Amino acid sequence: MKYDFDTVCDRKNTDCAKWGALKAIFGRDDVIPMWVADMDFPTAPPIVEALQRRAGHPFYSYTMTPPSLTEAVVDRVKRKFNWKIEPEWVVYTPGVVPALHIAVRALTRPGDEIVLQEPIYYPFFGAVTGSGCQIAHNNLKLTRGRYNMDFTDLESKFRSAAGMRAAHSRVKAIILCNPQNPIGRVWTREELKQMGEIVIGHGAVVISDEIHCELLYKGFSHTPFASISEEFAQNSIVCMAPSKTFNLPGLQASSIIIPNKKLRESFSDASAGIIHGLNIFGLTAMEAAYRYGDEWLEQLLDYLQGNLEITMTYFKERIPKIKIIEPQGTYLLWLDCRALGLDDLALQKFMREQARVGFDDGFVFGVGGSGFERMNIACPRSLLREALGRIEVAVNEM
Ligand SMILES: Cc1ncc(COP(=O)(O)O)c(C=O)c1O
Repeated sequence: MKYDFDTVCDRKNTDCAKWGALKAIFGRDDVIPMWVADMDFPTAPPIVEALQRRAGHPFYSYTMTPPSLTEAVVDRVKRKFNWKIEPEWVVYTPGVVPALHIAVRALTRPGDEIVLQEPIYYPFFGAVTGSGCQIAHNNLKLTRGRYNMDFTDLESKFRSAAGMRAAHSRVKAIILCNPQNPIGRVWTREELKQMGEIVIGHGAVVISDEIHCELLYKGFSHTPFASISEEFAQNSIVCMAPSKTFNLPGLQASSIIIPNKKLRESFSDASAGIIHGLNIFGLTAMEAAYRYGDEWLEQLLDYLQGNLEITMTYFKERIPKIKIIEPQGTYLLWLDCRALGLDDLALQKFMREQARVGFDDGFVFGVGGSGFERMNIACPRSLLREALGRIEVAVNEM
């Protein structure tokens, strides 16, 4: 079946965060919202059908996770990433951000440190500080349009002020983002290996947020961190979900894969009383997505590839002052707007008021975000072209 990604759907007045509060967020109603990671495409029809079927049974009870769901997760991870996981490793949470908060609670005490690689998806900051921990900044390095990890700096996070290896490092974990939001890198196996050897070699854990792992551009493949070695598996927590891939963020259902039994128990202890079971529609949608969503996903990825190519060409030919950091995955583009010569608040104002587009401002992603904007290109082409045209006119009028 051929799916339609071109029709612009009216999402106003549907309790949709992306479109519903433009005036409150951007100060005006006429911006094209291209901020939060939510796509302007209806989800795959098999998911809608499964939800409608489930809604027709008028008992919305406390849930138990059906073994068929875990089977679908195990099967998908094997099929997509050739990673063999055991059913008992899978724990469910109502979203990945809650899982990050729980993981940090499980691994730390107040005063401990967690490594973040900025610029980074901003809710990571709250996951660290919300448990009374501190951020150990291991910021990414941008060289000739490409971001890389800084391994020398990472190593230094585990050393005392005197430069010696700290006997009792306060760094308990890193929250890795792969594929990386906002910069769009898909970390290679070699990069993950080098990072993992440093972190795990110093007794810390890798919390790997892999929520964007199925949204990759041509030529790139995803390596689940824990699939690299048994040692990595035993010292990591991998967070996955169908929510970005199939546009289901309002259903809040994620699968957290924790191979190590002790870590899994600590995670469950830290979530006790806060989380009990998945939302009934979340678990229904997750299983349907993983079992029946592939045909839709294949066409979505083609469409996103097209949107990326259109956008890259447009900026290159018509708005060359703004440079795109070419993404390898995610539908989020990291725009280098530094050549416009605006400070952060002036850039924010320019995008909202002159260009009338609603982006996520780069500075909210932490160190290295100043002068950048994050643009969500998961929308029908007519909307994308309208936004590109607005930016072009605004830049030409500067
Ligand atoms: C890297 C990353 N992690 C987590 C989330 C949100 O996860 P959830 O809605 O499942 O809490 C997002 C959403 O944009 C994201 O980009």
